[in-house]
Amino acid sequence: MQRDEIARAVEVLRAGGLVAFPTETVYGLGADASNDTAVKKIYAAKGRPRNHPLIVHLACAEAVSDWVVTFPEPARRLAARFWPGPLTLILKRRAEISDLVTGGQDTVALRVPSHRIAQALLSAFGGGIAAPSANRYGRVSATTAEHVRSELGGAVDYVVDGGACEVGIESTIVDVSGARPALLRPGTITAEQLERELGIPLAAAGAASPRAPGTLAKHYAPQTPLMLMEADLVVELAASMTRQGSRVAVLARSARRPVIPGITWVAASSDPASYAHDLYANLRALDGAGCSAILVEAPPLEPAWAAIHDRLTRAAAGSATTDAT
Ligand code: TXA
Ligand code: MG
Repeated sequence: MQRDEIARAVEVLRAGGLVAFPTETVYGLGADASNDTAVKKIYAAKGRPRNHPLIVHLACAEAVSDWVVTFPEPARRLAARFWPGPLTLILKRRAEISDLVTGGQDTVALRVPSHRIAQALLSAFGGGIAAPSANRYGRVSATTAEHVRSELGGAVDYVVDGGACEVGIESTIVDVSGARPALLRPGTITAEQLERELGIPLAAAGAASPRAPGTLAKHYAPQTPLMLMEADLVVELAASMTRQGSRVAVLARSARRPVIPGITWVAASSDPASYAHDLYANLRALDGAGCSAILVEAPPLEPAWAAIHDRLTRAAAGSATTDAT
């Protein structure tokens, strides 16, 4: 049964269609990375600007040489330690790779995912699959096949259903194209783990780093305005907004639900891995609750929560420019 689904997905990719598939992080919206007509459909389906580059997914690290001019030692180390897995490496591209994939930059983003369906699909397809997260531009990533369908509907030709993604937030992105490795997007593979493997501190992403437009402030945003704050303030604000007649949704870390009439309360896990696993499904559920605001209790300021902080801060920044009506 699943073999049939993989065969069908490969056919769709070869014909230039779009296939959504599960990875261990989030669902990807995939197209044949060597087919410009197919890659253009990704941008159209997501409503994503054309200069936002895509990650090329590969079956194994050996395939990297088809895409890059050099695979420097720090990159090899990280690949050997963390691939297959939730890590994306930015490397100097080969000239023949399409500007549609690279956003016209001189680098390409590569990732070897570990999810068994992603692996089966990549091995059967044989080439690189360009795939951003399977959501509309700027919105919350999809972590189930149902969320993909509700985000993208008919714009995707085929969805391979692999259930809920294990990690739940997008891969860690490291730029290894320059003199010193730099962290461009935090993920569940932490800066500390990367530094331990590299034996040197990561550089901060700076002006010299490749542009990663998807990591701009406004991103991962529900349609309902989202605010990030300390626990006490969550309860205070929820109570006062409710008194003024607004409906309020809360993503808390405490199961101790305050007595506030009509409040929508989701108690998230106190473990960062479970919190990340559920994050986007929780945001979708709260977004669909018909409330005028989502108040999120700020997670602890510890390295294990860095990627979650990053996503929530961007979701809140997105809300600041969202029309609350
Ligand atoms: O976990 C993930 O990474 C998921 C799954 C599907 O693999 N993919 C994902 O793709 O999150 P997307 O397109 O939503 O985010 C990719 C990020 C964007 O911020 C993009 O700007 C950045 O990677 N990126 C892609 N190519 C790049 C490049 N050559 N240089 C710098 N940043 C790049
Ligand atoms: Mg994305």
